[in-house]
This record gives sequence, C-alpha cells and structure tokens, in this order.
Amino acid sequence: MTTSHTPTAAATYGRIVDPANRPDPYPLYAALTDAPIHRLGDHEWLVSGFAEIGALLRDPRMSVQDPAVEPDPNGPLGSDGRPFRSGFLSLDPPHHDALRGQVAHAFAERIVGLRPRIEELVDGLVDRIAADGAGQVDVVEQLAYPLPVSVICELLDVPRSEEPVFHSFAERLTRGLDPVDTLSETEIAELAVTRGQWRAYLMPMIAERVAHPGTDLISALLTGGPEVGPRSQDTDRMNGIELGVTLGLLLIAGHETTVNLIANGTLALLRSPAALAEFRAHPETAPELVEEVLRYDPPVQMTRRFATAPVRVAGQEVPSGDRLALLLAAGNRDPRRFAEPDRFVPGRPDPAHLAFGGGLHYCLGAALARMEAQVMLTAIARRFVAPRLVMDPPYRTNMILRGPSALQMAFDGVLP
Ligand code: HEM
Repeated sequence: MTTSHTPTAAATYGRIVDPANRPDPYPLYAALTDAPIHRLGDHEWLVSGFAEIGALLRDPRMSVQDPAVEPDPNGPLGSDGRPFRSGFLSLDPPHHDALRGQVAHAFAERIVGLRPRIEELVDGLVDRIAADGAGQVDVVEQLAYPLPVSVICELLDVPRSEEPVFHSFAERLTRGLDPVDTLSETEIAELAVTRGQWRAYLMPMIAERVAHPGTDLISALLTGGPEVGPRSQDTDRMNGIELGVTLGLLLIAGHETTVNLIANGTLALLRSPAALAEFRAHPETAPELVEEVLRYDPPVQMTRRFATAPVRVAGQEVPSGDRLALLLAAGNRDPRRFAEPDRFVPGRPDPAHLAFGGGLHYCLGAALARMEAQVMLTAIARRFVAPRLVMDPPYRTNMILRGPSALQMAFDGVLP
C-alpha cells in the first residue's frame, strides 16, 4: 500500500499545523511513515517520502504558481511584459530563470571570500556578550538574529544605521512566505501596506545607486556589467518593481531561515553533550555538523507545488490542478532513506537532505547560510565555557519557517 487513509493523514496534518505542536512535530511526522504520499482532501496531498519529495521538486510538471491567485491585470508589468506576479521563488520558467539568472552569479561572486568578515562579525557579537558578564545569553536575540541582517546589509552596502529598519522589514515581510490561504484578511492587507512601504523605502537607495554605482549587489543588478552574466536581450533586465521585490526576497528568504539554523544547531548541540564534546575536539567538522542540523531540524519544514499535468507518485495518480504539500522535514527523517533518522549524528555517512529544496528553486543562499552557521556554531562551541540549556525553548507559531523564539544558554565564562 502506498497511500494512507484520508481521515488519519488529514487528522495528523491538522495536528502538525496546530501551534501547540510546534516544539516537537517529529513524532507526528513519524506517524506518516506508513506511506510516502497521503491524501488530505479532494484536491490536496501531503508528501512525506524523501525520494518522492526530491523527484517532485525536480519535476517540470510541478508549478510554484498558485492557479487560484491571478496577478492584478491593471497592476505594474514585469520585464516579460506581463502583469507582475511575485518574486522568483513563486514564479515558474521562463520568467523565473531570467530573474534568478541575473541574481545568481552576482550573489555567488560576493559570497566567495566572505568568511573572514563573517568571523569578525561573529567574534564581535560574542565579545559583546563577554563584556556583559551575565553568564547567560539568549542565543536567538543576541547571536542568531543580528548576524544574517548584518551580512545582507553589507552585501547590499546598506549603512549599519539602517540594520534595525531592515530587521523590522524582514520580520514583517516574512509572513508573506506562508501560503496565502493561511493568512487572515487583515494580515493580507497589512502585508500589502508593508510591501508598499518597502518599495518606498528602497526607491531613494536605488536612485542613489543609479547615480553612483558601487561594487555592491544592488549596483550589480542595476548596471549589469560582466559579472551579472550574459543576457540575450536588454528586455531581460529586471525592472524597478522586480528589483525591489528581489531585494525583499533576499532579505526575507535569508533572514529567519538562517536564524533558525543557528538556533536549531545550538539547541541540538546543547541537548547532545557527546556531539558538543566531539565538535569541540574537532572544530574542522563544522561542515558535517551543519549538514546534520539541516537534516535533523530543518529551518524550512514544508513547501508546496501545484500539478500542471497528472503525475504518478509512489503508484498514486495525482490529477492535474491538485495541490501538494511537500513536507521536507519529514523527508529528512524518512527511515527508507536514513538509518536511525531520529538520532542527531553529525558526520553520518548518508548526509544528503532536503533542507534547501531541490531543482530549479534550490536555495540561492545555501552557501551563505552554511557559512554563517558554520562560523557561528564554531564560535559558540569554542568560546563559551560549559555552555548549557537553561530550559526547553518556546517556539514561534509559524509552521513553515519553524524555530525557537528564544533560546536561553547559561555558561561559566567566555574565552577570548
Ligand atoms: C538555513 C538557511 C536557509 C534555508 C533552510 C533555506 C531554504 C530554502 C528552500 C527550502 C528553498 C526552496 C523553496 C521551494 O522550492 O519552494 C529556498 C529558496 C530560496 N532561498 Fe533559501 N534558505 C536559507 C537561506 C537563504 C539565504 C541566506 C538566502 C539569501 C540571502 C536565500 C535565498 C533564497 C532564494 C532567493 C530562494 C528562491 C530560489 C528560486 O526560487 O529560484 N536563502 N531556500
């Protein structure tokens, strides 16, 4: 049997989205291991198998565009000449590829060589905690939150004084990553206002870069230049609204996700003294540690796709037009793929995971996120003396970008 029964899977899904289960949804995911795909309702499916999710993410019959949401025909146009729809995370080819192509190269170039600067930023944050002399830190507020926003502001050459503004926009815009049908009318209206404010905030900055281009990412996207890569024609160039939305996408897609990765990694280490001791003895294993955190407790728990043609998934026929929830975090614990999936085992021999998605929409910021987490977790393990968890952390209510809202860690001192 490859499909589980509707009522049971739908009931389990109901418990997964219930905020009361945010601290530990993993037993609920384990309850889905009887089948890799589950029918949730008439046109809705839940996919929990590692191989099936991986294949669907790479399947050209899968769309990220919600057919129920049409762009405003009287609104602004995209550079493809059609009514503007959204950032490229929620766009299908060919427009997705045109926009992503312009960012990908310029972004990747700026990540190379960034590690020493990230180390400096992380050391600065830990030094500040050492100077406090408090013996206790909220890892989320004092370490995980400040780092990604500083890094993205430096990539965009935004002054330090603007970081709180970016931080506040990131928090408010992040709600827009959730499926539209999980938002209330008030939230949708608030989001529209915030998006307008974000564009108004960026306009003078963009005008300034047009007049005086620098070496930053915004200037690269505006002026083109060889490092942005070849373009078939000038109309491929992103226009003003696309640039604003793309910058917002980089900010929100890279913010809370990275915060969660750092917090989830710290929590996993504090709950596993053997793994922490091993990592302290071998800090060069930071890459393996971070891959296991990404598998064991991924910052993005789920994504969605829409079938544009009938598809067979594990022997089950999914009709065209149906919606599929891809439970990345359940795939990462699939016992068909991983030995002892519920154990945190840095350096496990089969580390591949679904935390950054796959296929066309594979995370653009994966290299940056890995670097930030590796540097931060190394500093936490190296500099804090006898770090320990004060209490089980509270969680934000968000189901898709899941992570602790605070993480209190006690320690006996901070090494230089
Ligand atoms: C631990 C940190 C991160 C995680 C777990 C993560 C996860 C993901 C996932 C799962 C997707 C694919 C979504 C889908 O297919 O539906 C994605 C896409 C994306 N991510 Fe990340 N991300 C992280 C950090 C970042 C950072 C630091 C940035 C940039 C500053 C970033 C930028 C993006 C962008 C632009 C996309 C859309 C790619 C496309 O549609 O072609 N992410 N990310």
